[in-house]
Amino acid sequence: MPRRPPVNLTLRPATTDDLAVLADITVDSAFGGTPPDGFATPYLDHELATGAGIVATEDGSPVGFGILLTRGDISNLAELFVRRGTQSQGVGAAILVRLLEDAPPRLFTVASSDPRALALYARHGIVPRWPDWDLRAEAAALDLPPTNLTVVEVAWDDEGWADWDRRCAGRPRASEHGYLRDTCSGVPLLFRKGAATVGYACVQMAGDTGAGNTAVIGPLGARDAGIAPAVALAAARWAVARRPVVQIDLPGPHAACASLIRAGFRIVGQGTFMSNMPTDFMDPACYAPIGAEFF
Ligand SMILES: CC(C)(COP(=O)(O)OP(=O)(O)OC[C@H]1O[C@@H](n2cnc3c(N)ncnc32)[C@H](O)[C@@H]1OP(=O)(O)O)[C@@H](O)C(=O)NCCC(=O)NCCS
Repeated sequence: MPRRPPVNLTLRPATTDDLAVLADITVDSAFGGTPPDGFATPYLDHELATGAGIVATEDGSPVGFGILLTRGDISNLAELFVRRGTQSQGVGAAILVRLLEDAPPRLFTVASSDPRALALYARHGIVPRWPDWDLRAEAAALDLPPTNLTVVEVAWDDEGWADWDRRCAGRPRASEHGYLRDTCSGVPLLFRKGAATVGYACVQMAGDTGAGNTAVIGPLGARDAGIAPAVALAAARWAVARRPVVQIDLPGPHAACASLIRAGFRIVGQGTFMSNMPTDFMDPACYAPIGAEFF
């Protein structure tokens, strides 16, 4: 039998005043109160500034929240967390239903492995499309083959880079470019084969979870699946020359998965990309996201 939501549950829009409590709910919900070393939530500031958030309170105390990021006509359910002591009582469902009321019809999310999340989304027509892997490597364990690509660092106002991102991500998202530049110390890169540009990437030198020794690759996109492994390998070579640990969030169908794993990357986590529409706005064989929150 489904349990009933708490009787005194109230839903209200989230504001930037809620930042500390949303971070606290995230840590309680995802890690039982003890986050991994270096975990931080600067991404929540950006999500609240550019998205729509809902907070659920029980008797006035926040017990859960969700955040929807809409770019163009596509929404990304970036957050849905309920405090451990209040889970499985319908709070997540209530937040999701409220968020969907104002969402455009096209929506996706990267779900955790929690069956409650997967079931909740599936019942709202948001169905699994592919596994999404967190790949990680220590420089010492990597044996990256050379590529015949040239890596070019460009400026954040480079229109060519922004255009690559719009085409590969399938949405305009200038606000994420500011976030990558200012919060993640991102370096925008283009990849050339001879005179032709065949891919783009950002390497986040600070990441967005606070691990200072880690370079996070993302977004990354390639002209086609044939060249995608070389683009990913070239990005990894660039990153590993500058940080001892490298991470990339890669769709399972990405053409570079085999090459990166062969070179020494390890799967350290898995989410599920789910959407209520065909995913023709992006090609998971050629595109890797900023991260699970900003796919
Ligand atoms: C995922 C989460 C947000 C869902 O919120 P919640 O308030 O616990 O979930 P709800 O009670 O509203 O709904 C969960 C539903 O999943 C169902 N469910 C639970 N386990 C299930 C399983 N193994 N198979 C199928 N359905 C299952 C429940 O029966 C419930 O449906 P019902 O109310 O009709 O019975 C919450 O559990 C949470 O914070 N989890 C940890 C963090 C996390 O993984 N967040 C998701 C990020 S994508």
